[in-house]
Amino acid sequence: MVQRIMLNETSYHGSGAIAEIPNEIAARGFKKAFVASDPDLVKFGITAKVTDLLDAAQVPYEVYSDIKPNPTIENVQHGVEAFKASGADCIVAIGGGSSMDTSKAIGIIIANPEFEDVRSLEGVAPTKNPCTPIIAVPTTAGTAAEVTINYVITDVERKRKFVCVDPHDMPVVAVVDPDMMATMPVGLTAATGMDALTHAIEGYTTKAAWAMTDMFHLEAIRLIAQNLRDAVAEAKSGEPGSGREGMALAEYIAGMGFSNVGLGIAHSMAHTLGAVYDTPHGVACAMALPIVMEYNASETGEKYREIARAMGVAGVDDMSQDEYRAAAVAAVAKLGQDVGIPTKVDGLKEEDLDFLSESAHADACAPGNPRDASVEDIKNLFRKLM
Ligand SMILES: NC(=O)c1ccc[n+]([C@@H]2O[C@H](COP(=O)([O-])OP(=O)(O)OC[C@H]3O[C@@H](n4cnc5c(N)ncnc54)[C@H](O)[C@@H]3O)[C@@H](O)[C@H]2O)c1
Ligand SMILES: [Fe+2]
Repeated sequence: MVQRIMLNETSYHGSGAIAEIPNEIAARGFKKAFVASDPDLVKFGITAKVTDLLDAAQVPYEVYSDIKPNPTIENVQHGVEAFKASGADCIVAIGGGSSMDTSKAIGIIIANPEFEDVRSLEGVAPTKNPCTPIIAVPTTAGTAAEVTINYVITDVERKRKFVCVDPHDMPVVAVVDPDMMATMPVGLTAATGMDALTHAIEGYTTKAAWAMTDMFHLEAIRLIAQNLRDAVAEAKSGEPGSGREGMALAEYIAGMGFSNVGLGIAHSMAHTLGAVYDTPHGVACAMALPIVMEYNASETGEKYREIARAMGVAGVDDMSQDEYRAAAVAAVAKLGQDVGIPTKVDGLKEEDLDFLSESAHADACAPGNPRDASVEDIKNLFRKLM
């Protein structure tokens, strides 16, 4: 069996890594940067940490900040027009998954204008050209969009979030600098960290998982179990610490894995909840994850023993299959609780369940789930979130 692994051409990791951005722009011969970020990041001066460096290096750029969480088709189309007007030849994406995903969609359409309707990019679209070069700078420790071949766009009219999978959207450079994440509030730190854990666990148990991606996912689970509570405590106290650094590394390592093998129905459910109730992606993933793990357990062989071990559960080698499976689910649920994630979806109603479960069943992540889930199965899983 042949396996494919796609990663960035170059990635930088660690405090102060953003200083490499002007060097990369110069080395690659780019003439003008389209800095894509969101309004809050501009307001709080986070985008300026990078544009100050561009100013100092005299790199021409234009800031585009009309990006919203759970970005829509209209956001992308607006961004495409702004990019064309800017005369830029590269994109510096600064933000969470929303800024990076919007940048990917803009870059893909600029290089492949026949997909300007955006909807036709859903799934694996036959684009011909690599997107406009992207230097991706994550400001959350969750989505790993800086190293994935995926982006997620919301179709407001049809109340759906759709996943686009396209190797042509891989950012050429990722700059994973924990200092860019230092201003994340408590809730965002917790939610994005649980998104990263959902990537690691769904990526580890997905149908296409193999030795190399297992290595990434298990290490990501171990790092998240070790660092997420500390990162949340650091967000509460405002004191810097090693939790943030650990989470910056963990979310990237999880992305190195799941981008290459896929996810499962916790993500399908999260995409649907995001589209219908605007639930933040990480919160939706965190609520769905333990419920989906319990449902999937029978199809995962010995894997939950390794998940439990990576989550820090003691004595897993002496446990029966039922025991280690229960322990893995409990450890994941406990981490969610400890970082303050709710267990029920606000506004979720019985009359929405048909639409939600059909939509999740049709999601691009569903076929990767280790257990084939029917619409009825997914409906029962949603019921547990009411
Ligand atoms: N491409 C992928 O592989 C992939 C994977 C998972 C999720 N996603 C998508 O990513 C999106 C979610 O991204 P996200 O969770 O990173 O959040 P986000 O980009 O939607 O940002 C959420 C909010 O957090 C704020 N924020 C971001 N960084 C901050 C910081 N350092 N300090 C203070 N505030 C900050 C933003 O301004 C915004 O208001 C969803 O649309 C989801 O579907 C994509
Ligand atoms: Fe995710």
